[in-house]
Amino acid sequence: MKKTTNLLWGGRFNEKSSNLLKKINDSIEFDYKLANEDIMLNRSYVESLYKANLLSLKEYKKIKIGLDQIKEDIKKGKFKFSNAYEDIHMNIEMALKKKIGKLAGKIHTGKSRNDQVATDIKLWIKSKLGYLIFKINKIQKTIIKKAENNLDVIMPGFTHSQNAQPILFSHYLLSFFEMFERDKRRAIQLLDGIDECPLGSGALAGTNFFEINRKELAKSLGFRKPTENSLDSVSNRDFMIEFLSLLSILSMHFSRLAEDFIIWSSSAYDLLKFPDNLCTGSSIMPQKKNPDAAELVRSKCGRIYSSLLNLLIIQKGLPSGYSKDLQEDKEPVFDANETIDLLLDIVNEMIGLVNINKEKMYNLANIGFVTATDLADWLVMNTNLTFREAHLKTGKIVLMAEQKKKKLSDLSLQDLKRIEPKITKDIFNFLSIERSVSNKKSYGGTSSSEVKEAIKRAKKKI
Ligand code: ARG
Repeated sequence: MKKTTNLLWGGRFNEKSSNLLKKINDSIEFDYKLANEDIMLNRSYVESLYKANLLSLKEYKKIKIGLDQIKEDIKKGKFKFSNAYEDIHMNIEMALKKKIGKLAGKIHTGKSRNDQVATDIKLWIKSKLGYLIFKINKIQKTIIKKAENNLDVIMPGFTHSQNAQPILFSHYLLSFFEMFERDKRRAIQLLDGIDECPLGSGALAGTNFFEINRKELAKSLGFRKPTENSLDSVSNRDFMIEFLSLLSILSMHFSRLAEDFIIWSSSAYDLLKFPDNLCTGSSIMPQKKNPDAAELVRSKCGRIYSSLLNLLIIQKGLPSGYSKDLQEDKEPVFDANETIDLLLDIVNEMIGLVNINKEKMYNLANIGFVTATDLADWLVMNTNLTFREAHLKTGKIVLMAEQKKKKLSDLSLQDLKRIEPKITKDIFNFLSIERSVSNKKSYGGTSSSEVKEAIKRAKKKI
């Protein structure tokens, strides 16, 4: 072979790769992140080669020791990932060659980088999913703690960003517990869905007459079973799209939480306060304290969505089998994972440390005739009016209160009777926000008895 050609695939080449080709083609600058997975894969694969009599016991042991040394070198930061060898798979094989010589050339028997990279990235995502679930759980614990510590706090519940009905602040927090519970479930489902090993699919058609036992190979890499179809296996990246979808949804939940906190911490609302260590100042306005951490949480999901779109676009219209386009799948996934990792920590801190202005929450919850639905419901229970009729009459009462610049509970019985004569003074028991909250006893409702039950249920899930 000419000196100038690639050592791993250069046999049929006369010319050296151009610098530009190297620039666009090399992936080691980012896929070095798959080093541990690649070594793990090779360790299992050489066991299969040994069992298939393609390696002697001595050779098998020598290779394993070599791979373990490379792993150690990487761990100690002594390993030099090199552009000379295109990608992580070649880097590992060449490093092995340096350690054990020509024997390293046997590890690629029956294997292709196509099934190899698909397996590496699956292993990588599997480990990240475990970590993700652990961290979501941590946020859920923080939510429960905060909900328990603020059980008595009433806040305005909003629809269309307008005061709607009073709720407990703990009920609000638990709504995010549920969102994160669904995120966790999606991660658990993906862990199950991802559990098939592509290795042993070869370049596209399967491995040759070598007797590689794919079932054993899958097990030794921690998969439930091998994938079903070799051609599908080498270009399937659905699981990466699913991973990015679930990160997108999770980051969307983070963004919504951040948005609530940002608005509520504004001077206009003043319902919450971020501690100094989650805020920044202004270079010109000395008085400023801005909720930058929350704002960045709100925006970072844009970055994660773009990773998802990136992958969807790369794969649209790809012909069957592996194409190099698929090398572009890694960076968006690495970037999204790094981003979500940061968000998970900061959201946990935000929820844990944000200070609640109970008094302001209570006062704001009292504004805007928020117990009007309770009044209409009282009419339904205590007169023969249908809900529709009760709704109209209550609307008239609200209008009257608005004109008189009074709260519903400050109207006189006489005023109320003018609109509906069957109203009695009992109605006043139903117009306070405390009563409105405590009456929401439906399963999953905001009464404190229900919220306590919800907390009990939530505790069982974490
Ligand atoms: N670096 C490549 C990737 O990430 C590995 C697979 C290369 N396969 C090939 N046939 N050139 O996709």
